[in-house]
Amino acid sequence: MSDYPLLLDLAGRRVVMIGGGTVATRRVRGLLEARARVEVIAPRIGEELAALVRDGAITWRPESWRPEFFRSELLAGGERIWLVHAATDDSAANAAAAAEADRHGIWCVRADDHRASSAHTPAVARGSGAADGLTVAVGGGGDPRRAVAVRDAVAAALDSGLLPLRRTRDDARSPVAPGRVALVGGGPGRADLITVRGRQLLAAAEVVIADRLGPRDLLDELDDDVLIIDVGKEPNRHPVPQQRINELLVEHARAGRAVVRLKGGDPFVLGRGGEEAIFCAEHGIGVEVVPGISSATSVPAAAGIPVTHRGITGSFVVASAHRGAEDALHALRDAPSDATLVLLMGVSTLGRTADDLIAAGRRPDTPVAMIESGWTPAQRTTVTTLEKAPLIAEQERVRAPAIIVIGEVVGVRGMLGDLA
Ligand SMILES: C[S@@+](CC[C@H](N)C(=O)[O-])C[C@H]1O[C@@H](n2cnc3c(N)ncnc32)[C@H](O)[C@@H]1O
Repeated sequence: MSDYPLLLDLAGRRVVMIGGGTVATRRVRGLLEARARVEVIAPRIGEELAALVRDGAITWRPESWRPEFFRSELLAGGERIWLVHAATDDSAANAAAAAEADRHGIWCVRADDHRASSAHTPAVARGSGAADGLTVAVGGGGDPRRAVAVRDAVAAALDSGLLPLRRTRDDARSPVAPGRVALVGGGPGRADLITVRGRQLLAAAEVVIADRLGPRDLLDELDDDVLIIDVGKEPNRHPVPQQRINELLVEHARAGRAVVRLKGGDPFVLGRGGEEAIFCAEHGIGVEVVPGISSATSVPAAAGIPVTHRGITGSFVVASAHRGAEDALHALRDAPSDATLVLLMGVSTLGRTADDLIAAGRRPDTPVAMIESGWTPAQRTTVTTLEKAPLIAEQERVRAPAIIVIGEVVGVRGMLGDLA
């Protein structure tokens, strides 16, 4: 194998395509993407090439290729030819063109015979989005379908964000444009419950400002020189105040870094994502929001509890309980009486919340499920009633993070059990 892989800058350079059929057309498309100046030599060309000729995108000599072509071009002082593609359906003509190109020191790609070519085109994937600027070229050693299969697999991995896409040079274009912040919802905690877009941006990030909840395992996969700032909050313990988090986002974006704010669940569900976005906007920093799977619905699901279920209820209310039942009571005022109530941040205030809900008319025997650490190996579900919930939570040492589901839908768990 004497191949020497190389990427050519063909922009504005003359490339001769010998042949006007489907293979030639495909190759011309690629050459035009590379902004080459394409000249087609063929007695006949297909519709697509004809349209390109009409648009002035390529030129066409309606004749068969002649062995003296390169020499006469040279003698006539014609513009230099950088590359030739021999793509006729006549193998002898392709061979003659390749030999002639060789004699004149011009690289030639033969579409019909890889081994007899001085140059070969690989199967190519070009990254987009977070992978923008990356080119993957796969040579198949004479087996183009094999190369295409590998190229497709790499392209899928590029799209999924499983590959390390972070730029390492300041002068390379950043997939997360410098001066921007991506607020990424990481989902409820399991690494594969983040969105593809979120994972792509994380793979391209230079600075990651991370919460305590969310897919923390993904942080271990980042390169050593990615700056990880852990601002993880716990109940009654906020090591980095919200104002400082906002400032960090702006400071790093202003320094031209690709910043990802990795949050648990969805950034805009009880996550202060809106405040962070507004602070960035007020300071001239563009923000992209990547929604995430909120714990409000996904953690009940992990415990086999659908928050709505036909025949039981068609609505649910999500509320923060860190101040007790105050928010929930407001939200329930206009909700149907059978609405499921999903409480976040409600463990420490559960006694007060249960009393207030019962005082406001909720039945004491309403089923309650407390689901701790959903979608993690430590997931645990405790089922009881509204009246008994505070005592049971204490006895069972229920701890944050937990979702508290109040409503008849908790009974569905009896038919399903844990689903995570
Ligand atoms: C500040 S809120 C953030 C909510 C997040 N933005 C979301 O959409 O899921 C944190 C609360 O979400 C809940 N939570 C988040 N992830 C959880 C998980 N994996 N298991 C149980 N509760 C979770 C807990 O109630 C926790 O106290």
